[in-house]
Amino acid sequence: MYDNLKLYEAIFKRKSVRKYKGDKISKDTIEKIQFICDNIKGIYDNIEFKTYIVDDTDMVEKMYGGIIGKYGKIKAPQYIIVTSEEKEGYLENLGYIFEKVILNLTEMGLGTCWIGTPFKKKVLNEIIKIQENHKPVFLIAFGYCEDSDKLYRKNISEFKRKDMNELVEGKIQRGWKAIFEAARIAPSATNSQPWRFVVDDNYVHIYCIKRTNIISKKIYDNLNRIDMGIVLSHLDIAMQNFQCKKEFKQLQGYDKRGCRYLVSIEK
Ligand SMILES: Cc1cc2nc3c(=O)[nH]c(=O)nc-3n(C[C@H](O)[C@H](O)[C@H](O)COP(=O)(O)O)c2cc1C
Repeated sequence: MYDNLKLYEAIFKRKSVRKYKGDKISKDTIEKIQFICDNIKGIYDNIEFKTYIVDDTDMVEKMYGGIIGKYGKIKAPQYIIVTSEEKEGYLENLGYIFEKVILNLTEMGLGTCWIGTPFKKKVLNEIIKIQENHKPVFLIAFGYCEDSDKLYRKNISEFKRKDMNELVEGKIQRGWKAIFEAARIAPSATNSQPWRFVVDDNYVHIYCIKRTNIISKKIYDNLNRIDMGIVLSHLDIAMQNFQCKKEFKQLQGYDKRGCRYLVSIEK
């Protein structure tokens, strides 16, 4: 498993890889990845989850059939399938853990892509035996990038993301600029970047935008919870990198119009 500095560096190079070489990954490397998946500490340690690394390249094709467009149908030599207990906070917990898994894979020279598109559970059940109290949540495609020159981003300007002033309300103090920057470039489903931050004298409060439209609510409610776990992961890595490792705390009375309050960080 890589140290925090390597994960911090990976934040700035990672990008979604959707085209892979056919080559399978060695057994040793797969074991290493399984170890990483099993040993990253989550936000909550009372939520059980499981990972299955499978190399059925046609799986995604079978699971999605013709029902969706290109988004989601990523043909990769391997996938990580994640199932979990459905307890309060399970999606944020998985987003947090598996973004760290992805950053480890990035450092290993592997391409990755989150796949959060809903799939046919019946087909998945033929591939893995899902535990009775678990729900399949998402997949991560991974493997060697078809064009190794396209594995990493070379410059931060390559990230298509919102400007900092659209995401942060309040005065950003010097030490926090770099921490917010690591959060700003986090990946999210359809690049929706649902996170918002409010800075006051003592805290940074973290929010997720609320969807009002019924259709987008249905599509994004769960995906955005995973996204929020991802952004907490980036914040955690960046805070550790700048030696200001702080806890996420759930406070009362910080509601914000149009947003759902998640947690706060004491400055
Ligand atoms: C929870 C989640 C689900 C995602 N699902 C898909 C998906 O089904 N298909 C896909 O091609 N990309 C998927 N993505 C990748 C996003 O589209 C991508 O992260 C975003 O556009 C930002 O681009 P980048 O990852 O290259 O920085 C997903 C990302 C996240 C975080």
